[in-house]
Amino acid sequence: MGSLPTNRGSSVTQQSLLSCTLSSLLVAVLLLLCACSSILAAPIKDQTYITWSQDHVKMLDAEDAIQITLDSASGSGFTSNKKFLYGSISMEIKLVPGDSAGTVTAYYLSSEINDEFDFEFLGNVSGEPYLLQTNVYSNGTSGREHVLALWFDPTADYHTYSFLWNKYHAVFFVDSTPIRMFANSQALGVPYISKPMRLYTSIWNGEVWATRGGQDKINWKHAPFVASFHNFTVDACIWQEHDSECCASASNLWWEQEAYQALSSEQESMFNIVQNNYTVYDYCKDVHRYPILPAECNHQL
Ligand SMILES: *[C@@H]1O[C@H](CO)[C@@H](O)[C@H](O)[C@H]1NC(C)=O
Ligand SMILES: *[C@@H]1O[C@H](CO)[C@@H](O)[C@H](O)[C@H]1NC(C)=O
Ligand SMILES: *[C@@H]1O[C@H](CO)[C@@H](O)[C@H](O)[C@H]1NC(C)=O
Ligand SMILES: *[C@@H]1O[C@H](CO)[C@@H](O)[C@H](O)[C@H]1NC(C)=O
Repeated sequence: MGSLPTNRGSSVTQQSLLSCTLSSLLVAVLLLLCACSSILAAPIKDQTYITWSQDHVKMLDAEDAIQITLDSASGSGFTSNKKFLYGSISMEIKLVPGDSAGTVTAYYLSSEINDEFDFEFLGNVSGEPYLLQTNVYSNGTSGREHVLALWFDPTADYHTYSFLWNKYHAVFFVDSTPIRMFANSQALGVPYISKPMRLYTSIWNGEVWATRGGQDKINWKHAPFVASFHNFTVDACIWQEHDSECCASASNLWWEQEAYQALSSEQESMFNIVQNNYTVYDYCKDVHRYPILPAECNHQL
């Protein structure tokens, strides 16, 4: 228990907020104080491994970036070495420029089977806006899509996309704007995100549905389609397989404190602007699909 992730890269800096260095004799006493939080600020290539198509992934060491590519042969993707349970994860992403119709760039946290939360960037023909679709899976239940039009060109520069999740809610941010919130509605019988998750990225062919509902297909003459990822930042509980209690009991960590249990009033007004002005689809408003809205829809803000 308590060993922090070992340094693998030469310039890895890891700082424990509160580590639990327990000798077997002290286990019982220190269990209550134990927390496995860690900040990981290492080069992105040292924090991740390629999970899909090695030859479609390029490391740009000087820029601390990874580029993933889709062409007619394959898509590609990479994944974090570590799993996380509660905290904050962020990445700067620059999306496929030009004609990206039919492409989907995904950036998500997933426990592989039950729990997941997703950013999916849906490409478009040149000059037309990307859409950002988010979804949440908890204990295998999904169908919680929310879609918004971004208020900037996500292909011109890197922007920060982040997750903050704790026992109270899971919040998605675009730069500092909260764009989506999934409250813990266990009291209403809705399972909440509770599994440790890895960070995943991928770029793939979504032409059957992604752009104008599948009307704009991929134009392979414009391949390769390249998305760039940079500044992967972790300030979260790093899961340790041999200590499943550690993250769950880490209630003294910053993300569990009162300031992070609900959006601030400033965040709430930013959130409302996004909901009112940029939202294209919200499953909680889709009464054709859900004549009885899912219970968590009564618990949004
Ligand atoms: C999660 O799903 C499993 C399998 O469907 C079910 O048995 C279990 O009760 C669910 N847990 C919660 C907390 O809803
Ligand atoms: C693509 O552009 C069209 C036309 O402006 C728009 O209707 C659509 O929402 C845009 N985005 C996607 C992913 O289809
Ligand atoms: C990397 O991202 C973190 C978290 O969003 C931010 O605080 C930091 O300033 C970024 N670093 C650089 C070099 O952009
Ligand atoms: C967005 O909608 C709000 C109403 O919720 C309105 O007051 C505001 O002016 C709009 N903001 C933008 C940037 O369009």
